[in-house]
Amino acid sequence: FKVPTPYNEPSREFRPGSPEAASVKKAIAEVTSSVRDLPHVINGERSMTGELRNVVAPHRHSQVLGRIPTADETVIQAAIDAALAAQHDWSRTPWWERAAIFLRAGDLAAGKYRDELVATTMLGQSKTFHQAEIDAASEVADFFRYNAHLAQQIFSDQPAALQGEGNTLDQRGLEGFVLAITPFNFTAIASNLPTTAALMGNVVVWKPSEKSALSNDVLMRMFEEAGLPPGVINLIHGSGRAISDYAMAHPDFAGLNFTGSTDVFRSLWKKTGEHIDQYRSFPRLVGETGGKNAVVAHPSADTGAVRASLIRSAFEYSGQKCSAASRTYLPRSVWNVIKDELIETTKSLRVGDVVEHETFTGAVIDETSLRKLEAAIEKAKGLESHTLLAGGNVHPEEGWFVEPTIFETTDPHAFTMSEEFFGPLLTVYVYEDNEWESVLDLVDQTSNYALTLSIFANDRRAISLALDKLRNASGMTYVNDKPTGALMGQVSFGGGRASGTNDKTGSRLALQRWLSGRFIHENF
Ligand code: SER
Repeated sequence: FKVPTPYNEPSREFRPGSPEAASVKKAIAEVTSSVRDLPHVINGERSMTGELRNVVAPHRHSQVLGRIPTADETVIQAAIDAALAAQHDWSRTPWWERAAIFLRAGDLAAGKYRDELVATTMLGQSKTFHQAEIDAASEVADFFRYNAHLAQQIFSDQPAALQGEGNTLDQRGLEGFVLAITPFNFTAIASNLPTTAALMGNVVVWKPSEKSALSNDVLMRMFEEAGLPPGVINLIHGSGRAISDYAMAHPDFAGLNFTGSTDVFRSLWKKTGEHIDQYRSFPRLVGETGGKNAVVAHPSADTGAVRASLIRSAFEYSGQKCSAASRTYLPRSVWNVIKDELIETTKSLRVGDVVEHETFTGAVIDETSLRKLEAAIEKAKGLESHTLLAGGNVHPEEGWFVEPTIFETTDPHAFTMSEEFFGPLLTVYVYEDNEWESVLDLVDQTSNYALTLSIFANDRRAISLALDKLRNASGMTYVNDKPTGALMGQVSFGGGRASGTNDKTGSRLALQRWLSGRFIHENF
């Protein structure tokens, strides 16, 4: 079995009136023609057991798109039982048969399911055509194709042997089940976390964010159509706390594949500690968590590139990418050139219904997020060190809309320069042109998170100094490029410090975390 050479699935452009826009609008009409039941899927069986909750469109919160059930302990136990029952056969299924299933899923994501994935991601997660396409169509397919290719490399790797002897590396999935907890902000991450573990031979209990239940339900159907046997991935909805409390107290809990907030990941890590004596094996904990990503410019930077990168990385998808820029360090000379245009462009960005082509960004995901952003904006407005330059208002009446907002601060240690808000809020700190070295130290000292980072400079020595001083301040450093938009096969994603375990989604390392090897040595 030879895995085809992987490639990045091209994204469609969605110009107004284009055939792709028409076909996604048709899918949107189909999705909104009814309120969908978005069930638990355990051992291939669907159920709506438990209290039902509505899933709404963030940009039109009166619009109910679907209903999800809430798992109680019986449901969680049933999902664990189904996973463990599937383990014997799935873990013995040759890797190439598992890869074939997920390669087929990749083709379905790029083909038959493409418009439905894009439509449900737009409606449920408030992404524009473009943002939904690069996520739910292109990146979903990319993960399957590249992971299969990486799996081939991993499973082909065999030890050396002397004459008359044989050595085998038997790479098994973990004994027990993996809990995958996935976030709302990328359909591709929701697709990737349970399937990465499954590709490597694991069985999975998958708890998606309730906010992305609409698109995640499409993913589950797609996995099944691709040939995934019942019980290998079991999807359950409900409270993250209730599900993790129960599942992580189970002796067969073997690992956690998590993307979400730093606080939640810390609490899950503690929970593992509490139960460590009960587990059959030491669980693997993989987490991609928060970020407070910086764009740092040197006086030699291309000013147009800095401005464009700030607009895109701070405000696309309303700043709700883990990789989004939320603080920037600009030398006075660069600031003098870009300030007016940055403010004008920010004010002109249209926030609204994602199905309209003129919309730059939709709503933030829910009221909790909007209120948190509102509180941060109000607090910053009250600080003498902060000047509001653009935005600064929220509009919760029809959807959870937050204006793209820019503050300038004279205090580089202010909360706006260190706390994550997960929204369209950018803070600018202006330094004097001759302070490059000390500003780099400042960025490092204030980087509690270490996810993405952009350095803009044309002076090679300035770039080298920044790469050296900030070597632990990010997992992905972009030089003269925005900090968002990592592409599978090119930049693997993950960060250190409070941003996670840096296991690099989209790399061999990420896949290897879901394997436990056995060496077999034989004398002939
Ligand atoms: N992979 C996304 C990006 O790079 C974020 O999760 O923007």
